[in-house]
Amino acid sequence: MARVKPIFPNLVDPKGVDCSNDRRPMSITTDDLRKELAYKNDGKPTVEFAGNSNDYVAYQFIDLLHTLQIPRSDGYDESCFIVMGQVKELLFQALHFELYNAKHQLDQDQLPEAIRMLSRARAITEYIAKSWDVLSTITADGFNEYRDTLGQASGQLSFMYRHVEFILGNKSERLAKAHSNIPHVWPKMKASLESPSLYDRVIAFLARRGYAIDAAMLERDWTQPYVANDSVEAAWRTIYDSAKTENPLFELGESLVSLDDAFSQYRWRHFVSVSRIIGHKPGTGGSAGVGWLRQVTELHFFPELWSLRTAL
Ligand code: HEM
Repeated sequence: MARVKPIFPNLVDPKGVDCSNDRRPMSITTDDLRKELAYKNDGKPTVEFAGNSNDYVAYQFIDLLHTLQIPRSDGYDESCFIVMGQVKELLFQALHFELYNAKHQLDQDQLPEAIRMLSRARAITEYIAKSWDVLSTITADGFNEYRDTLGQASGQLSFMYRHVEFILGNKSERLAKAHSNIPHVWPKMKASLESPSLYDRVIAFLARRGYAIDAAMLERDWTQPYVANDSVEAAWRTIYDSAKTENPLFELGESLVSLDDAFSQYRWRHFVSVSRIIGHKPGTGGSAGVGWLRQVTELHFFPELWSLRTAL
């Protein structure tokens, strides 16, 4: 394909945008007010607003959001890459939020709430995996047009993604260290590395429910990646051997597997898309590239929930 130069419509003038992240002033409405407004508008949406903004823009900082895509090249595909990268970052944040809250619900023995959050976490992960439908339209040539301008920028430096990996139990002191020079990011990253993961809390929850879990699984060095354990597998085996559909612990196990499954799809699609875009070239982040990505496709966060299936 002939090289196409992008034309940027520049739909927002950045000079007019308030860059603060303080909550912006907004109105509050009620059922009665909304009814009154719809009556006054003859059923049509409102189109006149006082001041220089409106509640939609103010609520989600929409004008600011749309000024944060700043390409570094003339490469046509870069715009797609930036927007999809940012979309994925937001989805990692949404995913982490659900996992963080599910962990806290489990700590309070609120199992149905935790399962609901895990179900949303699974849906978000599937959505993240789907993002490769768009990203894989970036061609090898198209990527080369802006690749040098990325410097060492790589998704492996996503602190939000690293929080997701850590809360799911795939700890790595080495990968955490990549963020130690950023003072507004590092304290939470360190805390995340040193805290029990969601799965560690699931195991503590099983122990509270009377399953015989090795003491070493309930108090260990949380900075270390999770390693499969026989007592945990035995607990899941008992749960999976008992009545299924009525058993909320079986539902918990299946929610975790579905999430792990979706995450594997995400990793696999990343690996395949990257193979398609850069072949066997090294990554921008200093790794061997697809060799590294292939290796991480093997990982499961909740290993016993997979290994027990051989015996079922
Ligand atoms: C479309 C072009 C892309 C290519 C060619 C690509 C390539 C790579 C490569 C080669 C790695 C290994 C580390 C390294 O850079 O050396 C990597 C890691 C990673 N990439 Fe991408 N990537 C792409 C897009 C994205 C996007 C849009 C995201 C989302 C923000 C992303 C997220 C990640 C993450 C989270 C890792 C770390 C994986 C891990 O630690 O297990 N990638 N990518």
